[in-house]
Amino acid sequence: MWPLGDVSRRRRADGRYDLAVSPAASPAAVTDTLGRPLHDLRISVTDRCNFRCTYCMPLEVYGRDFAFLPRAELLTFEEITRLTRLLVADGVAKVRLTGGEPLLRRDLDRLVAMLAALPGVADLALTTNGSLLARHAAALAGAGLRRLTVSLDALDDATFRRLNDVDFPVARVLAGIAAAEAAGLAPLKINMVVRRGVNEHSVLPMARHFRERGHVLRFIEYMDVGHTNGWRMDDVVPAREVVAMIDAELPLVALPPRYRGEVATRWRYRHGGGEIGVIASVSQPFCGDCTRLRLTADGELYTCLFGNYGHDLRGPLRAGASDDDLRARVRAIWAARDDRYSELRTRATVSGRALPTIDPARVEMSRIGG
Ligand SMILES: C[S@@+](CC[C@H](N)C(=O)[O-])C[C@H]1O[C@@H](n2cnc3c(N)ncnc32)[C@H](O)[C@@H]1O
Ligand code: SF4
Repeated sequence: MWPLGDVSRRRRADGRYDLAVSPAASPAAVTDTLGRPLHDLRISVTDRCNFRCTYCMPLEVYGRDFAFLPRAELLTFEEITRLTRLLVADGVAKVRLTGGEPLLRRDLDRLVAMLAALPGVADLALTTNGSLLARHAAALAGAGLRRLTVSLDALDDATFRRLNDVDFPVARVLAGIAAAEAAGLAPLKINMVVRRGVNEHSVLPMARHFRERGHVLRFIEYMDVGHTNGWRMDDVVPAREVVAMIDAELPLVALPPRYRGEVATRWRYRHGGGEIGVIASVSQPFCGDCTRLRLTADGELYTCLFGNYGHDLRGPLRAGASDDDLRARVRAIWAARDDRYSELRTRATVSGRALPTIDPARVEMSRIGG
C-alpha cells in the first residue's frame, strides 16, 4: 500500500493505467501538491465528432479508418452520474459536458436530467459545436441544463466550412443558437479559437454580431493540445492583440475576476452591449489556479489538458468497487497532482529554451473535451 499523495501507477496489459491507493484517505477537502482544490469536472460523453476542425481533429488523422471507442467501452449515464456524485462529495461544484461532440451521444438530455438532480451540482453546462442544437436545445433546457457554450470560429460561411473541414454551413449553427435563445438558455457563451492567418479577420465581425445579441464572446488562444494538430507558436494570436483589435473600434473596459480560477479575463464594452472574455492559455497561463478534473468517455481521469496518461476508474467501477474505494482513488489522484504544463511551456518559449517534450501519447482534446 502507498500513503495518500504517494501514488504509484502501473500500466496494465490493456494499456490503461491503474493506481495504488492509500486506505487512509481522510474525508477533509482535497488539494493537490500545489494547494489547488478540486472544483470543476469536465465530462467527455463521446470521443466522436461530426466536425473535423483542423486544430482539433485533423481529417488526415481522424479519417474513415480511425478507431473510435466501441459503445460498450463508454461509461453509461448511470456510471457517469455515480462518479459525479462521488466527486461532488470531494469538492466538485461545476460540471460541464463536452466531447467530441456531446450532442452525438443519444438521449443526452437524460444524462443532463440525472446530473441536474444531484445535490451539490451548483452549475451544469454544456459545450457544443452547435450543429445539432436546433434539434436538441428545448429538451436540454427542459432537462435542467443551466448554461450553454457554442464553439464558433467564424461568421462567414467560406471560412467556417474550411475550419470545420466537413463543409458544414454556418447558418445551421446560427439556427442552433437561435433555438437555444428560444429555449431560454441565453445569454450563451460563444467560444472562438483565433489562429494566425486563418480566422483573425473574423474577430471584429464576431464581436459586432454577438454584442448586438447580448451573448458573451470568448476568444481562445490556439493551444498545443494533443500531438496531431501540428501547433506552432507562430499560429497563436495573443489575447492582448485580440483585445487591441476590438478596442480600436469598440472601446473596452477591464472587469475584475469573479472567482479564483476564472480562466477568462473579462472586458465590457464602454458604450454598453455586454462583455467579451479572452482566454490567454498560451501567453498568460493560469495553471496556478487550475481546479479542473477531466473524465473521458471511457472512464479515465485526467488531471491536465496536456496530460500523457489517465487514471482508470471504469475498471474498478465495473469490478464492483465501493463508493469509499472510488473516492479514495480520486482523492489520491488529486492529492498527487502537480501538473502545470502551460506555465512550463510559456516559460520555455519566453526564455528561448526548448519546449517541454511532447509525449506521442499525449491525450487529444477530442478525448478529454475542451
Ligand atoms: C474539444 S471541443 C468539444 C466540444 C464541442 N465539440 C465543441 O467544439 O464545442 C471544446 C472546445 O475546445 C476548443 N479547442 C479544440 N482544440 C483546441 C486547440 N488546439 N486550442 C484551443 N482550443 C481548442 C474548441 O474550439 C471548443 O471550443
Ligand atoms: S473542436 Fe469540437 S467540433 Fe471541432 S473537431 Fe474538436 S470536438 Fe469536433
